[in-house]
This record gives sequence, C-alpha cells and structure tokens, in this order.
Amino acid sequence: MSDKPRRVLMSKWTKTKVLLGSNKVRPLIPDTRKFSKSTLKEMLKKYTMVYVKPEIGTFGNGVIRAEKLGPEEYMYQTGTTVHSFWDYESFHESLRAIISKKRYLIQKGIHLVKYNKRRFDIRVMVQLSPTGKWETTGLIGRVAHPKKIVTNYHSGGKPMDVNRLLAAHLSNSEIKKIIHSLNELGVTTAKYLHKSYPGFRQIGLDIGFDKTWTPWIIEVNTNPDPYIFNKLTDKSMYRKVMRYKKAAAK
Ligand SMILES: Nc1ncnc2c1ncn2[C@@H]1O[C@H](COP(=O)(O)OP(=O)(O)OP(=O)(O)O)[C@@H](O)[C@H]1O
Ligand SMILES: [Mg+2]
Repeated sequence: MSDKPRRVLMSKWTKTKVLLGSNKVRPLIPDTRKFSKSTLKEMLKKYTMVYVKPEIGTFGNGVIRAEKLGPEEYMYQTGTTVHSFWDYESFHESLRAIISKKRYLIQKGIHLVKYNKRRFDIRVMVQLSPTGKWETTGLIGRVAHPKKIVTNYHSGGKPMDVNRLLAAHLSNSEIKKIIHSLNELGVTTAKYLHKSYPGFRQIGLDIGFDKTWTPWIIEVNTNPDPYIFNKLTDKSMYRKVMRYKKAAAK
C-alpha cells in the first residue's frame, strides 16, 4: 500500500467542510447542505433559487437548478428541460426520481452576472510553482450556453478572456482590482487546503459573481483541466499552466 498523500479529493461535501474552517474563505462559500426533502424545502424558502448537485460530479453532469416561484409553485431545470409543479410533494418526488440513491448536495443559488444574456463564471487556476510557492497561474471566463444552467466547457460553455467579460460591466481600474482579488483568493484557498492535504499540487476554483460582485466560491476542483487555457488566443497562460503542471508531476 502506498502512503503518499492524496493528490485529489472528489467529494464536494468534504472539500466544503474543510474550507469552512478558514475565516477568510468561509464568507465566500454559498450555504451548502446535504440533500433531504426538508432541507430542500427550507433552503428554497430562504433563498428562492438553489443548485442541487451530485456530491461527486464533473463536467456539470447531473447539476439541477431549482426555484420556488410562488407559495406552491416550483420548477427545476436539468440540461435545457424545465419541469413545473403546483405542489411541493410532486416537485420533490420528481427530483427524487432523478437523484435516486446517489448522494446530492443543495447549494444556495448565485444569480450569476451575465455576458450577452448568458451566465458566466471564472475558473481560477492555482498551482504550486517549481520553487514550491502557491501562485495563481491562469484565469479564464466560462460563458454558459444560452439555454443551460451550467458554464462547463463539456456542457456547451464557451471559454473566454476574463478582461473581455468584465469589460462589459466594469471600468479598467475595477477590473484590475477584481483580478487582483481573484489571484489572492486563489492563493489563500490553496494554502489553506494544502494544510489539510499536503499532496495537492494544483486547484481550480469556480468563482461566480452576483450583482454586488461578491466572488462566490461555487466549487474547488483538485484536478482542474489545464487544456481549457489552450482555447484562448493568447497562449501565455496555457504555457505557464503546463510548465508548472509538468514540474509538479515529477
Ligand atoms: N450555487 C450555484 N449558483 C450558481 N451557479 C452554480 C451553482 N452551483 C453550480 N453552478 C453552475 O454549475 C456549474 C457546475 O457546477 P459545479 O462546478 O459545482 O460541478 P461540476 O462542474 O460538475 O464539477 P467539476 O467542476 O468538478 O467538473 C458551475 O460551474 C456553475 O456554472
Ligand atoms: Mg465545476
């Protein structure tokens, strides 16, 4: 048996619980709980819109957006299909059938800022440098397919230059500040996770902004896709990400 420290951690629940231990990171994690009938009802009452997602998932697969539209009116969307209900029981039954016996989480929904009417979030790539320091090496925007609720590339999301996305909303100096704070947030999060999991060499944060420009941490990936950076015309980030990745694999 190998006793090497683990390099990846798949459970979104475990990662969330660890990160809640950091005073700096905690306020940026949307309320996340294990799926249950009563928790879903309570969270929809509190937040109106929530994301229901597999505890272990990738590519946006199985991610559901659920909303309470009125006193007894509910809906949820998976892929591009919307289902509507006129009472909580049938809404929950229908969701239950999708979830089946799998472990799911419920997370407060963030109303993501849009670009050309499409939701977007930002992937922040953070890597251990060849000299052993945590560094944010890449930022890339991911714009959702117009009819979808997830931004993942594998679900039809479009990778885009972060400056271009933010320039649709903010001045140059505001963009600079936001990029600086994303770089810092990436390093803070990585350092904190690294204390519990010294085997980690890289993380990818999915950051979603609401209209107040709070950088919500939607999830932290421990095995982030480096190739998404190759979709940008400017290859400088891609080259750095790959260089650090190769150095860390040794
Ligand atoms: N609480 C939320 N509020 C708003 N959007 C969300 C929320 N949770 C998820 N999303 C959207 O769904 C996408 C996929 O969710 P998430 O990143 O949690 O799972 P995943 O992408 O399947 O996992 P992985 O990134 O490991 O492949 C996010 O990138 C984001 O666009
Ligand atoms: Mg993700």
